[in-house]
Amino acid sequence: MCGIVGILGSHPVSQDLVDALRRLEYRGYDSAGIATVENGHLERRRAEGKLRNLEQRLLEDPLQGMTGIGHTRWATHGKPTESNAHPHMSDTVSVVHNGIIENFRTLREDLAGKGHVFDSDTDTEAVVHLITEELNNCDDPVQAVREAIAKLEGAFAVGIVFAGHDDLMIAARKGSPLAIGHGNEAMYLGSDAIALAPFTDEITYLEEGDMAVLRRAGAEIFDKDGLPVKRPAIRSQVSSFLVDKGNHRHFMAKEIHEQPEVISQTLSHYIDMAEGRVDYPDLGIDLSDLTRVTISACGTAYYAGLVGKYWIERFARVPVEIDVASELRYREAPLPAGGLALFVSQSGETADTLAVLRYCRAQGQRIASIVNVRTSTIARESDVVLPTLAGPEIGVASTKAFTCQLAALAGLTLLIGRARGTISPELEQELVQGLLEVPRHMAEIMADETQYEHLAHDLSKARDVLYLGRGINYPLALEGALKLKEISYIHAEGYAAGELKHGPIALIDENVPVIVVAPEDELHDKTVSNVQEVAARGGKIILISNGADDAAGCELMAHIQVPDAHPFSHPILYAVPIQLIAYHTAVFMGTDVDQPRNLAKSVTVE
Ligand code: F6R
Repeated sequence: MCGIVGILGSHPVSQDLVDALRRLEYRGYDSAGIATVENGHLERRRAEGKLRNLEQRLLEDPLQGMTGIGHTRWATHGKPTESNAHPHMSDTVSVVHNGIIENFRTLREDLAGKGHVFDSDTDTEAVVHLITEELNNCDDPVQAVREAIAKLEGAFAVGIVFAGHDDLMIAARKGSPLAIGHGNEAMYLGSDAIALAPFTDEITYLEEGDMAVLRRAGAEIFDKDGLPVKRPAIRSQVSSFLVDKGNHRHFMAKEIHEQPEVISQTLSHYIDMAEGRVDYPDLGIDLSDLTRVTISACGTAYYAGLVGKYWIERFARVPVEIDVASELRYREAPLPAGGLALFVSQSGETADTLAVLRYCRAQGQRIASIVNVRTSTIARESDVVLPTLAGPEIGVASTKAFTCQLAALAGLTLLIGRARGTISPELEQELVQGLLEVPRHMAEIMADETQYEHLAHDLSKARDVLYLGRGINYPLALEGALKLKEISYIHAEGYAAGELKHGPIALIDENVPVIVVAPEDELHDKTVSNVQEVAARGGKIILISNGADDAAGCELMAHIQVPDAHPFSHPILYAVPIQLIAYHTAVFMGTDVDQPRNLAKSVTVE
């Protein structure tokens, strides 16, 4: 993770570096720092914690250089202290880094033996001293970086500036994303195009193994074999305006409330309204003959994929293998020829998901991805991209991206089922109609949030919370628990309702709230039986359901009522109450809702 920026400008760049870092804070916010070349020397300012601390430091002690690099950190090696904050530097070289240098220990020992003194616990500092050592040997920054990079193992995107070189910045990438921005007598570097949007919309994405030598007049790019290469400059569509919170207190609240609109947009993208059927891009594979779908993703996106498994298996009758990407990437799972591999990712940059994509490609799978960022690495490496139209998601806890992923997966289910003849035109129309009602029902759920505010008082006292769901509502239970724990820091677990009696029921007492996702579907009665088991042991039940159902007479701590809707749309709709429960509990507890501790929005390390 971490965000990096670099500017070769025509005026002091420190404020522009900070502005660019603000757009990258979603990648980490443990510390921030910038370094510039001033009168031939390297100068830096760093601060622990959020970017505002660095801004304060710069007010007290400004930087004047017109060439500089900046970094916002998500700590991997070493605590989030100022001494571990980037940029790291020697007298001659300063480096910002996103990724993990896996052989840093060996490099450190070797360099320490040669007299280099380290003053941080980071892997990145080994890169600084390695380049410095090479520079001592050859006195050529480009050659020094080339030699140093050849010795690095792991994943990295780096930006490097040098004392005595005001018109030079070197960038390199392997495994972590990096974009170059072209300006007028100015050049820019950033982890993504969003960071560079205020300065330029002319962007070149570096490819795996590329190294770029930037000067104000332009960039030279070399591929992984060191050969000069041309990479296209594209016009980025990313808006230069910082997305704001509107009338909401947090980005998360705004993004929850945007769902009726962005779900409509995503559905409109995939549905032919006149015909009442789905309309997808050609996946380039014979869906009628599909033998298997392999889905992989992380976190919330994985839970979206899990809902996709239930849908595709039930309605399209194709076996679906699904695993979290960090497991699938090392499992060496056999994948039958002719399969479809599907990746779900908001950012499109998640390192584990990308690694599985590459594994699946090597196994001859057709690669499709559901992504929210169309210029992302996962999108660019896919055969077919199925975009979600959620718009930028700033809150670290995913909300609108999740429901838009579900909308895209629901449509994909219909596409596969139609091709395989398991979904008739009539059924397709009925299910499409069900989906089209989702935005309206979502708005109804959000019309009054007082119930969630009241519930937050009680939930905030809990040490543990359990979520239960059965069938297609099981992934919702998992997602509900994830949402609550990541923003309120209350321990929460999601279970398949039927699993309760196989262990977790031991946890139930009058202090453990149990949140049950139980729409009135064909499994409802079975879930209610599990609710009875909880009630019999004094557990406090919060039921999320439609209708006047009172869980067969059990005493409920709360009954969150959801409008009647087509069962096909339940997972999308029931996502909203679980988001609101987590949101209001976190607000009540006073946590940092949009930037919860230890997390980052884009996870580009293993
Ligand atoms: C949780 C959350 C994460 C992400 C996960 C995958 O609220 O947002 O679990 O879903 O890190 O990220 P993407 O979707 O960018 O691949």
